[in-house]
Amino acid sequence: MNLVDKIKELKKEKNAIILTHCYQNIEIDEVSDFVGDSLYLSKMAAKTDADIILFAGVYFMAQSAKLLSPNKKVLLPTLNSGCHMADMIDVENLKIFKNKYPNIPIVCYINSTAEIKANCDICCTSSNAVEIVKSLGVKEVLFVPDNYLGKYVESKLKNVKVITYNGFCPTHLRIRKCDIDNARKLYPDALILSHPECHQDVTNNSDFTGSTKEIVEFAKKSPNKRFIIATEKGVADRLNRDSKLYHWNKEFILITENIICPDMKRNTLEDIYTALLEEKHEIAIDSEIINRAKNCIEKMLNKTYSLV
Ligand code: 13P
Ligand code: SF4
Repeated sequence: MNLVDKIKELKKEKNAIILTHCYQNIEIDEVSDFVGDSLYLSKMAAKTDADIILFAGVYFMAQSAKLLSPNKKVLLPTLNSGCHMADMIDVENLKIFKNKYPNIPIVCYINSTAEIKANCDICCTSSNAVEIVKSLGVKEVLFVPDNYLGKYVESKLKNVKVITYNGFCPTHLRIRKCDIDNARKLYPDALILSHPECHQDVTNNSDFTGSTKEIVEFAKKSPNKRFIIATEKGVADRLNRDSKLYHWNKEFILITENIICPDMKRNTLEDIYTALLEEKHEIAIDSEIINRAKNCIEKMLNKTYSLV
């Protein structure tokens, strides 16, 4: 039996599901129950009745699944798949940041640890960040850890000052304005689609900026035939695969070859098989942290989305 079949059999045997972020190596989709962005996968984690959730993604994503389904076993294929951005803030630094700006509500990007979520008012993903901040109805808001997503939100909302922590995504910041200029010269017919974690010089010069899901939806709907993808490689890979599969006749070009998140790419099919077989790399979170951090994510899900 090949590895894919072995994983599928193990899933049945153990009543397990596999949630896969679309920055993962594309072959993992073959064994996955749901593939998508952070928001979609959080919703799937909250509503599943499986006994085990294996999260093919990075640590904070598996932690979020555990927060939303605390009674389930949540496994990560490799324990060292972290997120550089999430690791840029710890509770000590969060306290210093909050103390500098007292009495201002604080929003945390889902790309943060459970401990950070436990100390913030509400969570958001890149899909709903603008909506969440707007829904608070305040003039000033603190935003952690991503400076660039925070500033993107501010640019979309009139009259809301977004005070950001200075975190960033090293993968998205690798994309520069000169890459946009080069792409425009090489492919004048292409539309450039970027993620809000990118530098403002990139988002301001793109044709469309949105979360992973929004980029995919935009690309599917657009009558254009060629697109430059200014986000992680997994998005371009899946769009090209689907274009072939569903005869869209569209081409998706990664803006430069190196837009690859090393943490996201750590998980392999072998790791998934072993983690599921041995039920190892289980996510454990302190119960007091669970309650507060869960509340932070649930407020986000209840505010703008029903669990469809
Ligand atoms: P999404 O919220 O678009 O899934 O992005 C997650 C992420 O880690 C982006 O770098
Ligand atoms: Fe974190 Fe950036 Fe990787 Fe997303 S792409 S998981 S923000 S390091």
